[in-house]
Amino acid sequence: MLLIKNVKLVDALGERGPADVLIGEGKILSLDGGEAETVIDGTGLFLAPGFLDLHAHLREPGQEVKEELATGLLAAVRGGYTDLVSMPNTTPPVDTPEAVRALRKKAQALGLARLHPAAALTQGQEGKALTEAGLLKEAGASLLTDDGHTNEDAGILAAGLLQASAFGLPVAVHAEDASLRRGGVMNDGPLADLLGLPGNPKEAEAARIARDLEVLRYALRRSPTRPYLHIQHLSTKRGLELVQEAKRAGLPVTAEATPHHLTLTEEALKSFDPILKVAPPLRTQEDLEALIEGLLDGTLDAIATDHAPHTQAEKEMDLLRAPFGIPSLEVAFPLLYTELHLKRGFPLKRLVELFTDGPRSILGLKPIHLEEGAEASLVLLDPKERPVEPRNFASKARFSPWAGWVLGGWPVLTLVEGQVVHQALE
Ligand code: DOR
Repeated sequence: MLLIKNVKLVDALGERGPADVLIGEGKILSLDGGEAETVIDGTGLFLAPGFLDLHAHLREPGQEVKEELATGLLAAVRGGYTDLVSMPNTTPPVDTPEAVRALRKKAQALGLARLHPAAALTQGQEGKALTEAGLLKEAGASLLTDDGHTNEDAGILAAGLLQASAFGLPVAVHAEDASLRRGGVMNDGPLADLLGLPGNPKEAEAARIARDLEVLRYALRRSPTRPYLHIQHLSTKRGLELVQEAKRAGLPVTAEATPHHLTLTEEALKSFDPILKVAPPLRTQEDLEALIEGLLDGTLDAIATDHAPHTQAEKEMDLLRAPFGIPSLEVAFPLLYTELHLKRGFPLKRLVELFTDGPRSILGLKPIHLEEGAEASLVLLDPKERPVEPRNFASKARFSPWAGWVLGGWPVLTLVEGQVVHQALE
C-alpha cells in the first residue's frame, strides 16, 4: 500500500483536493487516507492520471542505434507517460502480426510504460498493398499508420479506412502532400528565402488534409462500419480550420498537435541548428496561436510528442542533410505546463485532458479520473522549476531544442497499475 498525503488532484474533471490518496491492488482505494507501508508527503505536488502518448518513434526493430524499447519506454515513464503508441516506421516496418506481438512481449517484460504498437497501413509502408487489419488488431495493434511516409495514393487510403473500420481500428495519417513538400527543410516563406533554405509550404499540409477528409467522406458513404481518421502532428492554421469544419459537419476525425509546434516557430531556424529540422516543419507565430486556440476549442483532441530520436552524429550534419525529428518524451508535459499554463493561463484541467482522456478516447480506452476505484496509473507532478538537461535524458537522443529552458511540472513519480515505474522524489 502507498499513501500520498495532502496532494492536489487534477484530471479532466478539474482541480480539487488536497486529498490523502491511498493506493493498493492497482487501484485508488481511498481519497481519505488509510494505513500504508509507504507514505509520501504530497504537499505542494499534484497528482494526475498517467499520460498517453499517441505518437512516439521508439525505433525497434532495426534502428536501435537511435533508440530502443528499453530507453524509449524509460524516457516515457520519466515524462509521466504510462501508455505509449510506437510508430511502425522501423527497419523493417512493423507490418505483420508477429512484429506487433514481439514488440508487446518485449515491452511487457520491461515493466515500464505500457506499449500499444501502431502497425503499418500498407505493406512495407510502401503505399501499395494493404496490411491485414484484422490480424494486426488481433495481435494487439492500436491503430494503423504509414507515419514517416505520406499516403500518396488516395484509393489505398480509402480501402485502408474501410478495412480498418471493420475491426474498429483508427487510421492515422501524416498529412503532407509529397509533391508540394518536395525537399523542403523548413517552413516555406520569406524567412526560408532569406536563409536560402528550401521551403515546405503550409499548403502541403492543408491540401492533404482536405483530400483526406474527402477520402473519409467517401469511406463513410461506402462502409457499414464507421471509418475513423486521425490526423497526426497538425501544424498549420489552415489545416486546423479544415478539421474544425469537418468536425462541425460530424465527420469522425480527430487531430493531435506536438510540443514543438506549440512552443517553437520557424524563427528558431535562424540558428541553422539541425535539431530544429522536423516534419512537418516549425511554422509561424500565427500558426502556433491557432494551434493553442484549437487545443482550447476542441478542434485538437490530444497532445502527442512525435518523439523522434536520431543519433548525435546525424543531427550534427547540416540542415540539408540531417534527418527530421525532435525528441520530447521527457520534457513534453513540463514544457506545456510552463509555456501554456503558467505563462498564458491555459487551463490546467484541459492541459491534463489533452495528455490523458483526449488521447485515450482515440484508442477507445476508458478515461481515468482520480476517484475511489480508479486504476492507479498515475503521475505525481512537481511545480518546482529546473532547467532541461538533455545529458541526463534516458532517451538515446541527448539533445533538445529546449535545453536550458527552465520548466516546472516535472513528473517525480509514475505508477502503472499501482507499480512504481519512475521515482525522482527529493
Ligand atoms: O520529424 C519527423 N520525424 N517526422 C516524421 O514524420 C518522422 C519522424 C522520424 O521518424 O524521425
